[in-house]
Amino acid sequence: MNDSTAQAAIRQYPCDAQFQLLGSGAFAQVYDIGNGLAAKVKKYPDDKFIKPNNSALPELKHEETILSHLYEMGVSVPKPEGIFSFPMTKLPPGVQDDREEFYGLVMQKINGQSVQKAMPHNWFFNTRTRSGSIIRNLPWTRDIEASWNQEIKKAEVVCQIADAHYGNALFTFPDRKVYLIDVDFWKIIEKQ
Ligand SMILES: Nc1ncnc2c1ncn2[C@@H]1O[C@H](COP(=O)(O)OP(=O)(O)OP(=O)(O)O)[C@@H](O)[C@H]1O
Ligand SMILES: [Mg+2]
Repeated sequence: MNDSTAQAAIRQYPCDAQFQLLGSGAFAQVYDIGNGLAAKVKKYPDDKFIKPNNSALPELKHEETILSHLYEMGVSVPKPEGIFSFPMTKLPPGVQDDREEFYGLVMQKINGQSVQKAMPHNWFFNTRTRSGSIIRNLPWTRDIEASWNQEIKKAEVVCQIADAHYGNALFTFPDRKVYLIDVDFWKIIEKQ
């Protein structure tokens, strides 16, 4: 899909809720937009302001393509729903600027915890006095490692992986599953 077709496919997302920040990294913020969905918006490196649509679009589009590919190939990633335009007023006042709208990559919201935070050794350093929890938490450490290894193994068959680490993975406790996120530096391995 070229940029102008992508542009034409962008629709205004109907939403009532004010967006709540789910998390952020160096280059993006991810918001809860209601209905079990999340929207990823691109920002300037280590800044809070959102990138203009013309520079964010190719980046969002690339990540959407990679997510769709991984999802179709059975890798555990948030299901992508498309790129939508949102009113700027949905963002917290601190990140709003004078534009009317911004673009976001809409995907399934994962109700999980960062793998980095869910790992017991992390707990140990954070909460030394509660070291007893480490033993109780050991079973899910094994689940995390197993699920992580399984998903990475599936992913590396279909993509060139970049920047994959425990900070770019979410763990859901009920089904003990790791979801890989933040795949915008990945590349699809084309079949010869
Ligand atoms: N689908 C999702 N559901 C719930 N939370 C999410 C989802 N995607 C991302 N998050 C949260 O938002 C944080 C930032 O997301 P992400 O890692 O994609 O951004 P980033 O590191 O700034 O990205 P990029 O490297 O693409 O610029 C994550 O660490 C996680 O806490
Ligand atoms: Mg990240």
